[in-house]
Amino acid sequence: MPDLSTDYMGLKLKNPLIVSSCDLVKTPEDIEKCAVAGAGAVVLKSIFEEQFIIEADIDNSAFSGYPEALDYMQSGGLMEYAPNAMCDVITEAKKRVDIPIIASINCQTDKLWPSFAQQVQDAGADGLELNIYAMPFEIGKPGTFFEDHHLKIMREVKKSVSVPVSVKLTPEITSLPHLVHRLADEGCEAVVLFNWFMRVDINIEKLTTRSLKGAGDLSTCIKWVALLADRVACDIASSGGVRNGEDVVKLLLAGAQIVQICSLFYQKGLSVISELLNTVDRWMADKKFPVLDDLRGELSFKKQELQFTGLGESGAYFRNQYLKTYTK
Ligand SMILES: Cc1cc2nc3c(=O)[nH]c(=O)nc-3n(C[C@H](O)[C@H](O)[C@H](O)COP(=O)(O)O)c2cc1C
Repeated sequence: MPDLSTDYMGLKLKNPLIVSSCDLVKTPEDIEKCAVAGAGAVVLKSIFEEQFIIEADIDNSAFSGYPEALDYMQSGGLMEYAPNAMCDVITEAKKRVDIPIIASINCQTDKLWPSFAQQVQDAGADGLELNIYAMPFEIGKPGTFFEDHHLKIMREVKKSVSVPVSVKLTPEITSLPHLVHRLADEGCEAVVLFNWFMRVDINIEKLTTRSLKGAGDLSTCIKWVALLADRVACDIASSGGVRNGEDVVKLLLAGAQIVQICSLFYQKGLSVISELLNTVDRWMADKKFPVLDDLRGELSFKKQELQFTGLGESGAYFRNQYLKTYTK
């Protein structure tokens, strides 16, 4: 019987499947359901800095650059899930489950990250995921601006807490490897690849734009997990696009330390966790891998590069152009 237990950010998990941050993980009851269904850990629904500002009565001028956030805040949209409430959720859930609980925060300004981090740590969170939203679209800002922004937040949070910290990233950021390398070098325990944003579409009749729900992309996750695994000094977590147990195996082979899943649970319910685990278990038994460490990263870029003469198959990870695919 293969052993599916694993470490993640120094935490002990009985298996590598984590319910990722979403509305399925908001209450102690939700967390208990995840644990009963067999999840290795949970990441709580992100709490947004705007909620703090309401509670702490901080000057709205801090939001001059983020009018949507201010609108949302003023409409009371985030009040239902305030920071104290999140701390209560953590404290209560810790009494009910023995799986690690990772809190998540999404901030727009630098000020309140450390305060939030301390609060959730005091409430009993086993780890913290920083859901940093910073999309590079200004012509005048170089990639280093965004890298430094991530670094600064992570550094301040690390100064305030002793629990492990991960950073959830978007692929739309300059030199992901360099950023992850810098984060890891400064003590970040893991990066989560990736968060998604709303997608945009254009209505050519009405000449309007509209936002569509975002979606995780398995192939992008496999690619970046494989390119980074074992080349940076932190765990690489995957988040996006998992539809079945085979996808979990693919991400582990690419080098993922753990696999976060969200949309699949909306579609099929949390009971699908046991199916996913059975598939991984059967596959490991079939291929004679007794423990996850034996298979993890077997198809990572680093491992492939070492195994093959030249680049061999590892070239697949950075063959972005389609010349070879379509040329006989
Ligand atoms: C309804 C919903 C709410 C989400 N809320 C959050 C959130 O608060 N914080 C966060 O970091 N990610 C959030 N996500 C993103 C997921 O955690 C996950 O990264 C993304 O859905 C990709 O994984 P998937 O393909 O398995 O769904 C949310 C996703 C959905 C569908």
